[in-house]
Amino acid sequence: MKVLRSPDELMAYRAGLSGAVGFVPTMGALHKGHLALVKHAKRNQGKVIASIFVNPTQFNDPLDLQSYPRCESADRELLEAAEVDALFMPTAAQMYADGSRYQVAETSQSVDLCGADRPGHFTGVLTVVLKLLNLVRPTHLYLGEKDYQQYQLIKGLVNAFFLNIEVIAVPTVREQDGLAMSSRNRRLSAIDRKTAPKFFQILSSNLSDEVVIKQLIQQGFTVDYVKTIDGRRFGAVQLGTSGRGVRLIDNVRIEP
Ligand code: PAJ
Repeated sequence: MKVLRSPDELMAYRAGLSGAVGFVPTMGALHKGHLALVKHAKRNQGKVIASIFVNPTQFNDPLDLQSYPRCESADRELLEAAEVDALFMPTAAQMYADGSRYQVAETSQSVDLCGADRPGHFTGVLTVVLKLLNLVRPTHLYLGEKDYQQYQLIKGLVNAFFLNIEVIAVPTVREQDGLAMSSRNRRLSAIDRKTAPKFFQILSSNLSDEVVIKQLIQQGFTVDYVKTIDGRRFGAVQLGTSGRGVRLIDNVRIEP
């Protein structure tokens, strides 16, 4: 696996490729959810490029950015074992050489759900994703359904800016007890880890959003939102009492 540490290195590598190029953008601290995206990308027979970049502009809480798990050597080993062809690991200075003067904002869906709780979050996501897509120039982009709102917004970005990229959504990979895999799960205390799967269980029930919210609160979750839109129920909750809660998000299809 080639490790490319600057936009220049990435562009030089990309210039030598032809045919299908699958791209899996990540922020590292990789788990089986990320690796499922790589597996889907490998099926396409072309080259697979992954990126690890903890994008500062999508964190609205400096503490959250600081405590975001970083484990570069374990991540590299996992991607190597998954037969990724190249790993792009730029620095923030390289990605934001413009000093963040240029940004991509979506004005409607990005201010609902996670966007309402995290102002500017999706502008950070869309901006970095457009930069990454322009560098990698993939034919196929793999995103997880775990972050369904993000998937919808990036798919919208690709359409709005006429990028010639096929966007593929990969189903959410879960722990045996139903908890959606997430880099943030490793910050859960032992007790909170036991409560966490109830989020998915209650979210998947056929109760109304209002009742779901009540039940989650009863179980000890702080509820940021629970909302059903077009047959999909989205939720965000927090666990942990010590002032530094862990935020979990999930979404499920709800049968009418
Ligand atoms: P990150 O949270 O590292 O996630 C990278 C990709 O892995 C996203 O497409 C996400 O939806 C997917 N993913 C995470 N957990 C998953 C799970 N349990 N099952 C399936 N897919 C899962 O999302 C980001 O990084 C960033 O916002 C990024 C798009 C890289 C832009 O900075």
